[in-house]
Amino acid sequence: MSGEARSAANGEAVLEIEDLRTSFRLRRGTVRAVDGVDLFVRRSERVGIVGESGCGKSTLALSVMRLIQTPGASITGSVRLGGLDLLALAEDEMTQVRGARVAMVYQDPYTFLNPVFRVGDQIAESLIAHRGMSIADARTETLALLAKLQLPQPASIIDAYPHQLSGGQRQRIVIGMAIACRPALLIADEPTTALDVTVQAQTLRLIGRLVADLGMSLLLISHDLSVIAALCDRVYVMYAGQIVESGPVEALYGGARHPYTSALFGATTTLLDPKREFTVIPGAPPDLASPPSGCRFAVRCPHRMDRCAQPPPPFAAGPGWDARCWLLDETADASARR
Ligand SMILES: Nc1ncnc2c1ncn2[C@@H]1O[C@H](COP(=O)(O)OP(=O)(O)OP(=O)(O)O)[C@@H](O)[C@H]1O
Ligand code: SF4
Ligand SMILES: [Mg+2]
Repeated sequence: MSGEARSAANGEAVLEIEDLRTSFRLRRGTVRAVDGVDLFVRRSERVGIVGESGCGKSTLALSVMRLIQTPGASITGSVRLGGLDLLALAEDEMTQVRGARVAMVYQDPYTFLNPVFRVGDQIAESLIAHRGMSIADARTETLALLAKLQLPQPASIIDAYPHQLSGGQRQRIVIGMAIACRPALLIADEPTTALDVTVQAQTLRLIGRLVADLGMSLLLISHDLSVIAALCDRVYVMYAGQIVESGPVEALYGGARHPYTSALFGATTTLLDPKREFTVIPGAPPDLASPPSGCRFAVRCPHRMDRCAQPPPPFAAGPGWDARCWLLDETADASARR
């Protein structure tokens, strides 16, 4: 386990993940989409996960929600939400936890909303199911929530069908469904990528404000470091199924330690920071069915050395950060001794 994960015990952790491994058995081999991840989120903390497409971010989130439904998929390790060991719960117990204690906002609101039900009823349903509200109380609470979501004319939107709303409004409804029961943790997986660029930043700011107002913790997934930097306190950088660096956002901005994190800063998009240039990291991530035995970033790393070929680099820990790179081996030892 990394030094950061061990230090979770010092803060009040809402979510604690240890050695999570999720794999899919395919004809070409076993894809280890999440391969030994340790991660924690403290109470009221906003934590980001950033990494390129295919590095395992959604698989990680869906594993926490116990929503991996692929036949033959395997999930091992430990996922603790408050005092609950989620991977050990029976399916009906997990159904009670989803929405009430942890909720997720997905990338595409179309797949989440039921087209034949009014959006207000879809929000109210969760209040009735999880908080035992009467239909009348749930409607009153839904109206208040629509106002919090800054939707115009809540009294008419509550009776609208999804197709009568814009993409941005639909995503606000999905966010409303997720936060209706005030879960301790909100997981948002690329919550704005299906939206127009002009609406993306507004929606992200809304999520940040709601999470702060309601005192929830946030686990925000994005391939865009500028989005994470704008909204999160701490970040985990994921590469090829593993965490390669973690620490406070300002520490990573002040000086990323892992060469992949540095490359990501170069490749960040311009959503919340229009002055940044867009560049691409040369090369491609490894096949997760047969990753290299040494550092997984080695073929793309401008700093690779002979020792990077194998074995895999261990986590090096300094004050407030963790990173998995041989370059840091000696630096980290020195800072740990200080
Ligand atoms: N149900 C599945 N069956 C087989 N392979 C899967 C399945 N879900 C994900 N994978 C594989 O697991 C790896 C991680 O995928 P995942 O969707 O978690 O990545 P991601 O980081 O969320 O990417 P993106 O940024 O594109 O959303 C990929 O190689 C993907 O092809
Ligand atoms: S371990 Fe080696 S190849 Fe991997 S990121 Fe560090 S320097 Fe680069
Ligand atoms: Mg994804």
